[in-house]
Amino acid sequence: MGSLILIILVIIPGVRSADWGVTFKSQCALKGTSVVIKCTYDYPVGHFVTSVSWSKAQRESDRWSLVPLSNLPSPPNHFRYVGNYWRDCSLQVNDVQHSDDGFYFFKFVTTLNRWTSKSYAHLSVRELTAVGQPSTVTEGGNVSLTCVSGCLTPVDVVWFRDGQRVLNPVFQARKEDAGRYYCAVLGQETIRSAAVALNVQYAPENVTLSVTPSGDVVKGDSVTLTCSSDARPPVAQSGYRLYKDGHFIGLGQNHTIADIQHSQGGLYSCQAWNNISWRGIDFINSTEVHLDVRYHPVNISISMNPLRVLEGSSVTLSCSSDSNPAADNYTWYKRTASPNSTLQVGSGQVLSIPSVDASHTGLYLCRARNALGENNSTEVLLATTEEEHGGQPLAVIAGISVALLVTLVFALLLLWRKHRTHAEKQVTTSNQTVSDFGLSGRGSSSSATEEQSDNVYVNIHTLPSCPPPATDTTPLSQRISHHEHDAPASNEDEVTYSTVSIKPRNPRLPHSINNSRARQDSWSKTGVNDDSVIYTTVAKSS
Ligand SMILES: *[C@@H]1O[C@H](CO)[C@@H](O)[C@H](O)[C@H]1NC(C)=O
Ligand SMILES: *[C@@H]1O[C@H](CO)[C@@H](O)[C@H](O)[C@H]1NC(C)=O
Ligand SMILES: *[C@@H]1O[C@H](CO)[C@@H](O)[C@H](O)[C@H]1NC(C)=O
Ligand SMILES: *[C@@H]1O[C@H](CO)[C@@H](O)[C@H](O)[C@H]1NC(C)=O
Ligand SMILES: *[C@@H]1O[C@H](CO)[C@@H](O)[C@H](O)[C@H]1NC(C)=O
Ligand SMILES: *[C@@H]1O[C@H](CO)[C@@H](O)[C@H](O)[C@H]1NC(C)=O
Repeated sequence: MGSLILIILVIIPGVRSADWGVTFKSQCALKGTSVVIKCTYDYPVGHFVTSVSWSKAQRESDRWSLVPLSNLPSPPNHFRYVGNYWRDCSLQVNDVQHSDDGFYFFKFVTTLNRWTSKSYAHLSVRELTAVGQPSTVTEGGNVSLTCVSGCLTPVDVVWFRDGQRVLNPVFQARKEDAGRYYCAVLGQETIRSAAVALNVQYAPENVTLSVTPSGDVVKGDSVTLTCSSDARPPVAQSGYRLYKDGHFIGLGQNHTIADIQHSQGGLYSCQAWNNISWRGIDFINSTEVHLDVRYHPVNISISMNPLRVLEGSSVTLSCSSDSNPAADNYTWYKRTASPNSTLQVGSGQVLSIPSVDASHTGLYLCRARNALGENNSTEVLLATTEEEHGGQPLAVIAGISVALLVTLVFALLLLWRKHRTHAEKQVTTSNQTVSDFGLSGRGSSSSATEEQSDNVYVNIHTLPSCPPPATDTTPLSQRISHHEHDAPASNEDEVTYSTVSIKPRNPRLPHSINNSRARQDSWSKTGVNDDSVIYTTVAKSS
């Protein structure tokens, strides 16, 4: 504040020269304020001041010149002389601007002389500067704001964030504290600092997975999954991860599925990551989105229960389909005689026929429908099963076998009674023989007679009417030789096996053999080489 008193003695005839002078006080002013440059002046007794003026040193090219304030391009009333015409020469500057910074000189004219100050008043124009420490903070971190004035004069300041008063310049950052801060002179809020930004970083929040288009997704649609979040810094593309049913699908904010399939439905979620952890978690999960892919019925099939239908019994046909939502309308059709013509025979998922008759046989199909469409099953044949047909289930075959067997055994029994009188002891053969041959046929069952097989083996499990054991071997007919030998079995309750061999006649062999040894030989030969003899053996197991 160099306050300079410059007394210049000017030799003017008849006037004391020691009293001429101007005293200034230099000033520092904040931009926007009004400031008074204090100034006093003096002159010898006997003079009367006739005019006063202020000028400012302006640099033009390389030399300075004094420009009267009235010649400066400034708004009216920017400079205002607040002094008087005898001692005070103070100057007020309103709404100080940086352009006002500089050196000011005072000049006055008296009745006898004129005087220009040799010294000057310096006006420095400064500003408030706001500083936030740190300028970037993670949510929860401490922030302290300071306001620095360019002038030494202390000044009370207040703080604003985006125009809102901030009460405390030291705080823990929340995400909403981010913004632009400035300080201002208390009571003169227009006099303010430039704004400084406070950046508050935080981990992703409100991580949301959305599906477009919204609403129902139908198989074949194109669907885009978008992960979004509120985060600072914003989540980069590579910071987003998409999951389906807990399995990683891919990186990126958007994921498009063109031609979506049923299998692509499921529980989707995404994660967002921006390098800021939240309570130790780096990857923040979104809410889950259930993607439900709807499709019309496919894989429609009919199951029939039971598989083999006897006339007069009941049958149910069930229609099943795969669809989303589940099919809610099933219709049953039966093909009619005329080609490509069908008759609706029922509705509902199950078609029951309590008593099947010939009119029910034919081709059936069902149609399944849901809101998205319909389709038909393949056709199934409903046919009644008859016993003479081949390929029946085992139970039927067993029944037929037993029936045939019983018939055969009765026939054998009749033959046995008829030829009982011719029974001979020597015909008795060992069980050994029977087992050699009979066992080879055990278990054979299927349609031997129809297939014209050479050998017929039948197992008899019970023979309640079997008479006491006896043995017999006899030629049975003219067309075939029939050798029969019963093992000398013991008890009526035991299981009896019957073996029947039917073979074309071989003329080289004798029709009957009385010697048991020779007979065993012929058995052996017959079993291996000879097709021409037909044997029947009924053995009762021991
Ligand atoms: C976020 O999602 C992933 C993937 O689905 C899962 O493994 C993880 O456990 C989830 N984390 C939390 C905190 O739920
Ligand atoms: C963010 O990541 C960069 C490097 O990728 C690392 O230098 C920095 O410390 C991380 N910041 C935070 C807050 O974890
Ligand atoms: C239909 O059946 C096929 C074969 O069983 C299967 O591969 C396909 O996934 C099924 N379709 C649907 C939509 O379930
Ligand atoms: C099933 O579809 C037929 C048309 O094919 C319609 O007449 C019937 O009302 C539907 N049934 C139900 C239960 O929606
Ligand atoms: C109906 O099913 C048939 C055979 O299963 C298939 O060829 C056809 O494309 C299906 N129709 C529709 C509309 O899906
Ligand atoms: C299913 O079968 C019914 C009866 O034959 C027929 O009217 C309908 O057009 C068929 N629907 C489809 C999709 O094939």
